[in-house]
Amino acid sequence: MSGLRLEGVRKEFVPGRPVLQDVDLSVASGDFVCVVGASGSGKSTLLGMVAGLVPPTAGRVLLDGREVSGPGPDRGLVFQTASLYPWRTVAQNVAFGLEALGLPRAARRERVRWLLDEVGLGHLAGALPGRLSGGQQQRVAIARALACAPRVLLLDEPFGALDVQTKEDMQLFVRQVWQDVTPTGERPTVVMVTHDTEEAVFLARRVVVLSSDPGRISQEIVIDLPGPRPLEIRRSAEFLRIRAEVEDLVRAEHRAHQARLAAAPT
Ligand SMILES: Nc1ncnc2c1ncn2[C@@H]1O[C@H](COP(=O)(O)OP(=O)(O)O)[C@@H](O)[C@H]1O
Ligand SMILES: [Mg+2]
Repeated sequence: MSGLRLEGVRKEFVPGRPVLQDVDLSVASGDFVCVVGASGSGKSTLLGMVAGLVPPTAGRVLLDGREVSGPGPDRGLVFQTASLYPWRTVAQNVAFGLEALGLPRAARRERVRWLLDEVGLGHLAGALPGRLSGGQQQRVAIARALACAPRVLLLDEPFGALDVQTKEDMQLFVRQVWQDVTPTGERPTVVMVTHDTEEAVFLARRVVVLSSDPGRISQEIVIDLPGPRPLEIRRSAEFLRIRAEVEDLVRAEHRAHQARLAAAPT
């Protein structure tokens, strides 16, 4: 099957205390899924397993039918803080994965230039990351993640540290990336973690709600908003209805978790 699949995934960092349990998730190739859930519900752990950085205790993660056993160029990862190499220029940061892939120098330069133009940072190719704003740094991190033309783009609360205006710009940018910006022209599969329900509904075609302790997928909501999504869509009745639905689910999960904690023997 083409796409991403998690089958019966379980993760225990402490034996007998699962952080994630019985997680089944299928993401079709080219889909855009947001994972929402309370802090500590295991969202980053889930993403880390897809990235191949966190081995599951049980179950399997499959990408296009092959089991994920470690990180690879078919998956690009972006964290909340850009984590760029401070001693490398913007262009050298974007080129990093391409060097590891062994792409010839000329092809590498061409792709880096193309990516930087796409993210609107062509003029900063020679700058060091320290000179860039937070939003610009995240753009570089996304360009770097896209450089190897990954099948899957994994975003872990990538805009959590940005101001509202920059965050909006970045949301539009990510939609655009998903729609048309890959070196191969093929739409990447996006899995994005966020705790911002408005962001999730605005960006995703499907929102997955993770419950807490242990994290399981409690609900999936298909975001059936037609066509392109300008920012104003967030004020439409349909958007507000879906957003309220997602918020209610997250809140219900949170309350249920609090109740379990209160009832648990200490
Ligand atoms: N490497 C680790 N070792 C031990 N515990 C961890 C590790 N990573 C995450 N956890 C624990 O797993 C739970 C889920 O963490 P995380 O996936 O970061 O949640 P989220 O991203 O939803 O906030 C938390 O209780 C956290 O303390
Ligand atoms: Mg996290």
